Amino acid sequence: MHILKLGIASLTLLLIAAAAGAADDGTAPAAVMLAVRAAHLIDGVHDRPIDNAVVLVRGDSITAVGSNLAIPADAHVIDLGGATLLPGLIDCHVHIASDPGDYYTQLFRRSPIDVAVSAHLYAERTLQAGFTTVRNLGSPEFIDVALRNAIDRGEVAGPRILAATLPLGATGGHVDDGTGFSPYLEFHQLSGIADGVDAVRKQVRFDVKYGADVIKFMASAGVLSEEESVGAPQYSQAEMDAIVDEAHRWGRKVAAHAHGTEAIKMAIRAGVDSVEHASLIDAEGLALAKQRGTYLVMDIYNDDYILAEYTRLGYPATTIAKEKKVGLLQRQSFRTATQAGVKLAFGTDAGVYPHGTNAKQFAKETEWGLTPLQAIRTATVNAADLLGRSDRVGSVVAGHYADLVAVAGDPLADIRQLEHVQFVMKGGVVYRRDDKPLAVVQ
Ligand code: ARG
Repeated sequence: MHILKLGIASLTLLLIAAAAGAADDGTAPAAVMLAVRAAHLIDGVHDRPIDNAVVLVRGDSITAVGSNLAIPADAHVIDLGGATLLPGLIDCHVHIASDPGDYYTQLFRRSPIDVAVSAHLYAERTLQAGFTTVRNLGSPEFIDVALRNAIDRGEVAGPRILAATLPLGATGGHVDDGTGFSPYLEFHQLSGIADGVDAVRKQVRFDVKYGADVIKFMASAGVLSEEESVGAPQYSQAEMDAIVDEAHRWGRKVAAHAHGTEAIKMAIRAGVDSVEHASLIDAEGLALAKQRGTYLVMDIYNDDYILAEYTRLGYPATTIAKEKKVGLLQRQSFRTATQAGVKLAFGTDAGVYPHGTNAKQFAKETEWGLTPLQAIRTATVNAADLLGRSDRVGSVVAGHYADLVAVAGDPLADIRQLEHVQFVMKGGVVYRRDDKPLAVVQ
């Protein structure tokens, strides 16, 4: 057993796996059935919770779900008492390799190797917070691919990751770290900077070649970068069309970062699968999104964090001013989007604010137009649909991965319950259990 290499949570879950009949090298799936019981289950499919819920799990998958389901005599029972079970949560917009920190330290004192060695910490925090799947929309140096693969091999505790690798962007735009600095300053790193139709096609192929599950590009300017605009388009329509055409040819979905009204519409017209941020979307943009079935992934919590912390972290006043320009308008746009019936998926931009606090966005979603059940759906069924993984994640049904979380209270009455997840199972392995020591199998 390679127990010593693992953290406490991983150690205890390994003991559970061993007790449940898995080989002690942790590689063989447990053949023994687990029965997870809880007073309520919000399965992601039905409008009403299922009471006296039983979820049967074998190996990494759910085999049956129901109310008062008969539990086979040889099953190990995990009885969560009065808790409410939900599908493992999904965050469609994270940056798993970075956490907020001092501006100049982040830019100039941390090498990609520094970034790489701490990424696993954020992955584990994310999983412990109940997020069993994330879409990583950008990390340096293919760190997200390395982390995804280490997690899939069972070496590191973390969520399932869909990796975007190097986001594409224009010279001088939101991905260009040199923007605002001396032209003599050079960043020695792999980069997604690509200009022109041929170059963007090549960059999509490069990302796919080295492991991208999804393609991300910057359709507009951004907040936390030094361009003067916050929302101006940074690619031409021809460039955006080429990115989407190329990515889709390789079977990859496309996420476009866009704050500005025009850039949002250009990205939707190009055929992107999701628009990220969508801060200044107008009525025409909403109509286009609805008509094309484009998801909006609106990170409406992090404005609070940026305004509270980023001045202390040394970010330029111009950046804070940009946040002040879009923060409230983005929340108002979110409300309009809920009224327009546009598809919404949960995405927080975690990394801009601390990993593991992703769930704080749920309360903002209910404050700005969604019911608690709708908010839960943004991070379960809707997110799974956007990711193209509805066959395996996003709801608690037979055949899906056994990705489950539980909270003590009723999240339909108090959405903030999701900020206090007490139980996390991913792929049939328990990573968190607050009511009992993890190593105890009943
Ligand atoms: N990564 C985004 C950007 O720099 C963060 C935007 C955060 N602000 C917001 N209101 N959502 O553009």
